[in-house]
Amino acid sequence: AVVVGRRVRSKRKWRRVVGVLRELEDNCETTFGRLRQVVDAMAVEMHAGLASEGGSKLKMLLTFVDTLPNGSEKGTYYALDLGGTNFRVLRVQLGGGRSSILDNDVKRQPIPQHLMTSTSEDLFDFIASSLKEFVDQEGDAESSVDRRRELGFTFSFPVKQISVSSGTLIKWTKGFAIRDMVGMEVSGCLEQAMTRKGLNMKVAALVNDSVGTLALGHYHDADTVAAVIIGTGTNACYMERTDAIIKCQGLLTTSGGMVVNMEWGNFWSAHLPRTTYDIDLDADSPNPNYQGFEKMISGMYLGDIVRRVILRMSEEADIFGPVSSKLSMPFILRTPLMAAMHEDDSPELTEVGRILSDILEIPHAPLKVRKLVVKVCDVVTRRAARLAAAGIAGILKKIGRDGSGGKTPGRSRSDNRIRRTVVAVEGGLYTSYTMFREYLHEALNEILGEEVSQHVFLKVTEDGSGIGAALLAASQSSNIQQCG
Ligand code: GLC
Repeated sequence: AVVVGRRVRSKRKWRRVVGVLRELEDNCETTFGRLRQVVDAMAVEMHAGLASEGGSKLKMLLTFVDTLPNGSEKGTYYALDLGGTNFRVLRVQLGGGRSSILDNDVKRQPIPQHLMTSTSEDLFDFIASSLKEFVDQEGDAESSVDRRRELGFTFSFPVKQISVSSGTLIKWTKGFAIRDMVGMEVSGCLEQAMTRKGLNMKVAALVNDSVGTLALGHYHDADTVAAVIIGTGTNACYMERTDAIIKCQGLLTTSGGMVVNMEWGNFWSAHLPRTTYDIDLDADSPNPNYQGFEKMISGMYLGDIVRRVILRMSEEADIFGPVSSKLSMPFILRTPLMAAMHEDDSPELTEVGRILSDILEIPHAPLKVRKLVVKVCDVVTRRAARLAAAGIAGILKKIGRDGSGGKTPGRSRSDNRIRRTVVAVEGGLYTSYTMFREYLHEALNEILGEEVSQHVFLKVTEDGSGIGAALLAASQSSNIQQCG
């Protein structure tokens, strides 16, 4: 009787936990129909964001980048990359002609946590010091030339650009929270700090990482029309026709186009499959009600969604043993660890067991429980990847590259052929998380259909935030000023 009672209890426990899983699966559902709705919503919001300032949660920011690098860029340029987990300084030597990135030196360092929430002066003094050290270590040939060095500054946050080389910070994202910085002109802050450190340098381009990625993508492949970042945060940009940027009437560029930084991390639509975990994560974040799309997709958050689900399961029934206090610690389960669990292909799921025990202090989880954890990772990642795919398809739809335009009357057959379309991609989630990448490709093919998919290529670029920014510093002679 005792044994039977235990079995019944155990069954009930499992039923409760499986209930939590089923509910998660249902609420994360991304059917073809739902994805199509997200695609349409993305395209609609893009229109709205271009029509008027504040017309949509999609900010659709002007970048004042009107021409993309083509290989003729020449000279030595510097780049600063701030916006992810690391901060980097680079020197890039451009030789003119394709494949002309002759050399580049990089210095990388993590941003001390306290600087992410300190004052703008502290942050920029740290950056300028690091840059100074880098420049001081240059070989004689470089340092003997007493010239003003030109810098491409990748600042991966929403910025209202004033010109191609200046702009004000709209809002922090990705856990940064330096209050006095919001509304300030970013290049000015850096230039003042550089002056304080005795550095003779000028910001020639202030760019978002997505824009740097588009620049580098285009440099390698002229069919590149958009760029997507799926790393700590997520965002996209693309080349838009100036006449479609209604909110900035009379915008004149030599190319007739301008790169628009969508800040798609802040995209929102009622069609997005949202769970209670997302709602709680948002409420606990430093920027509630912002970056809703990013919070479902990007590397900063996925691990934490999984942690929240496991916590809920362990509260529901003791299949993980007594509730571990670690499970209540925000961001303890980082996304790379989640990916490692998801991709554990050992028969006993040893890696899952190790991470549960070492990180979450859940020792001796039986195989059945480890399998459950893998399933949770799968549901969360699949949703993220499929939503990112819908976002990409939304951009293609907006620029008429999704094959939905149909045949234009009066045009010859060859004009109606779908043009080769390249989207540059960067970010650890896409490059290092195979399952994520596969789910994304699968969904994009599903949405676009076979015929169109054949013409759409996602290409990983190597360091758009570094080399792309240097290329933009070298190629932007544009003096277009603030809209209006
Ligand atoms: C966040 C930032 C955005 C950046 C993205 C990827 O969404 O707001 O500017 O491009 O992260 O780094």
